[in-house]
Amino acid sequence: MKTLITGGTVVNSTGRGAADVLIDGETIAALLAPGSTALGVDLVGSVDAVIDATGKYVIPGGVDAHTHMEMPFGGTFASDTFETGTTAAAWGGTTTIVDFVVQYAGENPLDQYALWHEKAAGNCAIDYGFHQILSDVQDSSLDAMDELVAEGVTSFKLFMAYKGVLLSDDGQIVKAMQRAAQNGSMIMMHAENGSVIDLLVQQSLARGDTAPYFHGLTRPWQVEEEATHRAIMLANLTGAPLYVVHVSAKQAAEQIARARDGGQNVFGETCPQYLYLSLEEQLGAPGFEGAKWVCSTPLRSRAERHQDHLWQSLRTNDLQVVSTDHCPFCLTQKQRGIGDFSKIPNGIGSVEHRLDLLYQGVVTGRISLERWIEICATTPARMFGLYGRKGVLAPGADADVVIYDPAGHTSIGLGKTHHMNLDYSAWEGFEIDGHVETVLSRGEVVIADGEFRGHAGHGRYVKRELSQYLI
Ligand code: URP
Ligand code: ZN
Ligand code: ZN
Repeated sequence: MKTLITGGTVVNSTGRGAADVLIDGETIAALLAPGSTALGVDLVGSVDAVIDATGKYVIPGGVDAHTHMEMPFGGTFASDTFETGTTAAAWGGTTTIVDFVVQYAGENPLDQYALWHEKAAGNCAIDYGFHQILSDVQDSSLDAMDELVAEGVTSFKLFMAYKGVLLSDDGQIVKAMQRAAQNGSMIMMHAENGSVIDLLVQQSLARGDTAPYFHGLTRPWQVEEEATHRAIMLANLTGAPLYVVHVSAKQAAEQIARARDGGQNVFGETCPQYLYLSLEEQLGAPGFEGAKWVCSTPLRSRAERHQDHLWQSLRTNDLQVVSTDHCPFCLTQKQRGIGDFSKIPNGIGSVEHRLDLLYQGVVTGRISLERWIEICATTPARMFGLYGRKGVLAPGADADVVIYDPAGHTSIGLGKTHHMNLDYSAWEGFEIDGHVETVLSRGEVVIADGEFRGHAGHGRYVKRELSQYLI
């Protein structure tokens, strides 16, 4: 099947220009000067389908490098399955996710990896890869790391918080980092000081401060900055590359910037919730309402201007990637924490909205059009060994293509544009300039004319290379 996308402005992270995109089967065959002929033969007449993208941007499909479909967490499971979550992602122009295999203490990382394949296989609407979470880092886990790298799982997430659940102590972190330094994989870090958080939580609950707002106050920026700094030092000691996930505090972003300026292979990710939402407005909403926005790291104070600093860090490349950390829980699940915020399952659902939300940064002049593509598609692809196939529109790349209408409009909210398996929207009422109009995944149209045309099982496991971001 050959498809020609005509009349649009192709935008890659490296620049933009008028071009037609010729797709042959699952890959991009050529980017052509508009209206090109092939050896004098009109191309429009020689392909099976033509998509008119006049007045639209033609961009690489988004790569969301941080999702948790069906994650067992907080005594329940994240509410999106691989099917519902990847379908919602497609609606929002994301054509690849990298999800986290979870290994809790005592579990075998390789068994968990096999289990995640069982959950995902045949159920995904778009392509997917895996990172692996390691909690108790045993000697056997180190050998498992090597085996997983060979399987295309080239990044490992460690937690400095959630004692007794996911936390690795500093010795375990160093062991995993030493192995990563040897086998070329990336260490991803949940950087919050768990012991201090546990103490502050106990003290807060004992005082009777039990509302969702106190989730934020018991995870202050100091615990994020301290853990980020510690992770950077341990990475420096071991020579492992470090990618700090879900950065929300400006002080943590500053630590990352300093390490990068010092020449260390340290990278940082933030998420839409930390760019737009705040401790005061969302977590501080009346009653139990704030539970909708309980996630870790927490939303930060707008008065302290963390959000502005994160936008600026994205513009200046002090932070490199925006992922969603999509980990949705329905209100009925969040209600486990009525009267005790520490029992609210942590996570927000955004997998459908990342491209739209970040495009507002283009509209408001915070980032360029090319930088939008870079932080949402190209860099996550390069960071996690997908580049070439994903994150770029170029001959030979997978035909994961989004036609984005800058003159379109998207109203976000439950019952409007919302296909996640979630009984509320963390983004209710957000009005977006721009619209994801058409989405192709490996040459197959999955979203068009306001309809989902894909199917569960189209999405394939993508075996990832080592990070292409390391020298
Ligand atoms: O609140 C969050 N972020 N939930 C998902 C798990 C994690 O730490 O990424
Ligand atoms: Zn985390
Ligand atoms: Zn996460």
